[in-house]
Amino acid sequence: MADKISQISQELKNTYISEDMNEKSLYDYKYKEPIKDYSKYFSLRNSTPCQLTEVEISTFLVSNEIYSFGAGVPSKLFFPFKELEFNFNFMGSEKVKLSNEELELIQQYSDSPGLPKLRNWCKSLQMRYHGLCDPKTPGKEWDLLMTPGSQHALDSLVKVFFNRGDSMIVERYTYGGMFAVTQPVGINFAPIEMDEKGMIPWELNNVLSNWEKLYPNKQFPKLLYIIPHGQNPTGVMYDVKRKEEIYRIACKYDLLIIEDDPHFFLQLDNPKDSNGKRILHKSFLSIDREDRVIRLDTFSKFLTSGVRMGFITTNSKLFGSIAFELNASVFHASGLTQIALEKLLLSWGDEKFDKHVENVQEVLIRKRSETIELFEKHLKGQVEYKVPNAGLYFWVKLLGIDCSYEFVRDVLRHHKVIFGLGISSSPDRSIKTPYIRVTFSYLEKEDGEIAFKILSDCLKDYIKNKKKIEHDEDVTFYNGVE
Ligand SMILES: Cc1ncc(COP(=O)(O)O)c(C=O)c1O
Repeated sequence: MADKISQISQELKNTYISEDMNEKSLYDYKYKEPIKDYSKYFSLRNSTPCQLTEVEISTFLVSNEIYSFGAGVPSKLFFPFKELEFNFNFMGSEKVKLSNEELELIQQYSDSPGLPKLRNWCKSLQMRYHGLCDPKTPGKEWDLLMTPGSQHALDSLVKVFFNRGDSMIVERYTYGGMFAVTQPVGINFAPIEMDEKGMIPWELNNVLSNWEKLYPNKQFPKLLYIIPHGQNPTGVMYDVKRKEEIYRIACKYDLLIIEDDPHFFLQLDNPKDSNGKRILHKSFLSIDREDRVIRLDTFSKFLTSGVRMGFITTNSKLFGSIAFELNASVFHASGLTQIALEKLLLSWGDEKFDKHVENVQEVLIRKRSETIELFEKHLKGQVEYKVPNAGLYFWVKLLGIDCSYEFVRDVLRHHKVIFGLGISSSPDRSIKTPYIRVTFSYLEKEDGEIAFKILSDCLKDYIKNKKKIEHDEDVTFYNGVE
């Protein structure tokens, strides 16, 4: 299938410039009014009318304003946490103690979208970094929901939008954890070839304009999934021009966009402003004119992953459907985690938050250099890689082999060294790919010295002997965070 698509795609390549979508025609695209009715995008599950009446829903709510005895909530007399004080790492060691009201609030059920102060902090972050207007601006209302990480956000969005057999546009290589939530649903992936700036616009346009030919009997895609900065796994960063091209094509073909952007703050080489702060690239959310973009942020990659906290930013028209799925799955993200983050972020304020981001970038720049040194010292001539200017990963081609999966399975793992496998990021599991993913954010130099030496020795040995160890045909499924 992949061969067929690339062959047809190649044939179509020549017609692209002249016929359909040259750069001029792309920029001639006239934006339409923002989408008003999303019903054609919704899954059957999400379109099924909620059986609950408003009166019933009101009986489940806990409120200080009414005498409410309908909800299945525990007595506050059972709450175990009597005192909580946070002592934060970095930038002074200010201690923050929770009040009795806060202790009660976080030990009880609370609203699905999250604690109001934390949400407001995140909203102001989106306004600062993505140029969003005030969330209540008439006609441009938007909102935000706290989630237990972006992985869970993805799961909720798949439930909102996808039925078995629906199609989704993805990058040629993409986040393996996304397959964990989409594959069980039976989604048809349409991978788009990438270059050093990300998904290639003419490829995207060709796939969409020749859909029936390339994917006979498959549903036309309703959504495009994209990782714009420090793409997982390739490390690619989309510039603004590329984003605008992709965005316009999405508008032309009426696609929604999930912008999954865990590495937004990990842009490492952008110029700095007069205050020494790195100027970050615009997101898809910030160029969205037709209310197509749903953006996922997470604290996992620049603060802490274990607290499991991220947020979804969406126009208000989609808010209710997403809140419904969040409510149905977890009710809400953990109150304890939310308050911990709220206290940290409010005590930092914008200035210290930005300082933290700068520090993270500096550490990553150092780790990236150390990793390059290791590649040059141990693996010169054995690998090819591009230096990523965002994110956490090097996407590395192992020279002289055609399948990194077989190499790792048959040799490398027996030496207790492991890297991300190219195939884990491919929607097409039948391919062979020589790529591995190396996470430089996690790599300590001393460990790297050992691991890269082993990789080098094993690679030489494997190529020389074309060594093949007998193995059981193991079946791999995506079942964890990548
Ligand atoms: C592109 C992408 N999306 C989502 C996630 C999951 O992040 P979280 O820890 O917020 O669930 C990851 C983690 O690796 C990721 O790379």
